[in-house]
Amino acid sequence: MGLYRDHVVPRLVELTCGAKGIERFRRSAMEGLSGRVLEIGFGSGLNVPHYPDGVTEVLAVEPAATARRIAEARISASEVPVLHVGLDGQSVELPDASCDAALCTFSLCTIPDPAAALGEVARILVAGGRLHLLEHGVAPDPGIARWQRRIDPIERRIADGCHLSRDPVGLLEAAGFGVERLEQRYVAGPKPWSYFTIAVASSPSAA
Ligand SMILES: C[S@@+](CC[C@H](N)C(=O)[O-])C[C@H]1O[C@@H](n2cnc3c(N)ncnc32)[C@H](O)[C@@H]1O
Repeated sequence: MGLYRDHVVPRLVELTCGAKGIERFRRSAMEGLSGRVLEIGFGSGLNVPHYPDGVTEVLAVEPAATARRIAEARISASEVPVLHVGLDGQSVELPDASCDAALCTFSLCTIPDPAAALGEVARILVAGGRLHLLEHGVAPDPGIARWQRRIDPIERRIADGCHLSRDPVGLLEAAGFGVERLEQRYVAGPKPWSYFTIAVASSPSAA
């Protein structure tokens, strides 16, 4: 899987997650995002053109070298400084309470241990800091959810660990985050991939 994972998957993500129709969901998830931001699963920087004015700096965590390379042009074109600070959202070498906010888009589905990543986000956020989230996830309709569980083993192979049947809100709550804003709906596209969640959640210390 080396070549496929390192070279093909980041370009597949660029094509699918980079679709024009998704940009408004990115902007919506980032409403109110400000200060020094930790972004886990930074990918190829598809969020960079949409950072709101209040964002002063982004500390990015992303394991895929090809994605980081594709991101370079977006970072150079941006007024917001972006610094890559790590390769694994499950273990980030940043001090406690060192970021004002956090951002994660379409990555809790992929990170092998999302609970560990959320634990790191909680540790790194200042008290009262918020995580802004945009994810696809398990659908509310039992029939679609059944299909998601059936397709999951194939999805995980072709999309480098991506799960269709994860529940982003359940993960946030289990990690102790307090969900303050929540929007969930089907968007255009095949339903197993199209049940989107936008959430803003406060860190456990403040929840
Ligand atoms: C579907 S992509 C989303 C990328 C980007 N956030 C976006 O919205 O376009 C999932 C990302 O999670 C990254 N990822 C996988 N394992 C990770 C980990 N342990 N820690 C941080 N990121 C990880 C992948 O390399 C990939 O860039």
